Amino acid sequence: MKISRRDFSKAGLSALSLAAIGAPAMAGPEHLLRKPIPSSGETVPVIGLGTNRYGVGDDAAKRAVLKESLARFHALGGTVIDTAPMYRSSEVVLGDLIADLGIRDDLFIATKVDEDAGGDATHAQIKESMRRLKTDTLDLLQVHNLIAWQDALPVLREWKQEGKVRYIGITTSRARQYEEFEKIMRQEELDFIQINYSLEQREAARRILPLAVDRGMAVMINRAFGGGRIFQKVGDQPLPEWAKDFGCNSWAQFLLNYALGHPAATLSIPGMTKVHHVDDNFGAAHGNLPDAAQRKRQEALFDAL
Ligand SMILES: NC(=O)c1ccc[n+]([C@@H]2O[C@H](COP(=O)([O-])OP(=O)(O)OC[C@H]3O[C@@H](n4cnc5c(N)ncnc54)[C@H](OP(=O)(O)O)[C@@H]3O)[C@@H](O)[C@H]2O)c1
Repeated sequence: MKISRRDFSKAGLSALSLAAIGAPAMAGPEHLLRKPIPSSGETVPVIGLGTNRYGVGDDAAKRAVLKESLARFHALGGTVIDTAPMYRSSEVVLGDLIADLGIRDDLFIATKVDEDAGGDATHAQIKESMRRLKTDTLDLLQVHNLIAWQDALPVLREWKQEGKVRYIGITTSRARQYEEFEKIMRQEELDFIQINYSLEQREAARRILPLAVDRGMAVMINRAFGGGRIFQKVGDQPLPEWAKDFGCNSWAQFLLNYALGHPAATLSIPGMTKVHHVDDNFGAAHGNLPDAAQRKRQEALFDAL
């Protein structure tokens, strides 16, 4: 079944439900905040989809829940999906769900390589990812956690030159890798970096994020919720009134807006397996992003929690 983005009513998205998630009434995908990829100028919506919890194998009930979330992500205008061979069966599950929904052409699919052996093993892994994802091209291919990056990057460049991969990059979510990450950013031509950045873990803003701006690299933010842990910290405390100044209606939007408000950030890829989380997080892609002074206020509030 091919789902049309214009089919808002079929996705259950009335003006009322949009208002409930903090989006301006009647705001559709055409009103989503988008940012440019510096190496091409192509723009992408600021909210993508993280899928490290999509490895549910053949479990039909779990697949049905994920299919609903993916359909809503697409209906709301989402395009960028981040996955990896390391995420158990996620690539297979995504490949099946994307084919079922008939939405491949609307998506920007990012996956990763993590082959220690490099060379032929990396080529084989990329082919296998494409088979699982049921696609002939990948939008972004990243070296996962810098694993064997010296061997992997030349392979990624070959695929890019052949036109089968559009963008290449590197990823981490570990501060202990930042020094090496920075060194690679300085010496290699990359379209994207992917890194952890949140109100809880701000270290990337010290050197890596400014360097990404200098080097013209797009920044994909992972773990803006600290894997979900940050929600325990905020608990059921009310949002400050001033969060409304930048259109923020939930703690998830508060956290995403903080990360996306950094001038280097291109998009964030929250992990979301539930429809109501997709709805909530897309609220962060409507309205304004916090400016430097508002972000400082967010930090002070978070530190005092
Ligand atoms: N080195 C790397 O390359 C690397 C490392 C880490 C992550 N990543 C990528 O980044 C993505 C994001 O990281 P992550 O998933 O570990 O952490 P995350 O995005 O910080 O947190 C995801 C968790 O937050 C929950 N959540 C999502 N939206 C919510 C909302 N509106 N309200 C309350 N809870 C909400 C999710 O629940 P539900 O699942 O129940 O919706 C899930 O438990 C990954 O999926 C992966 O694609 C890459």
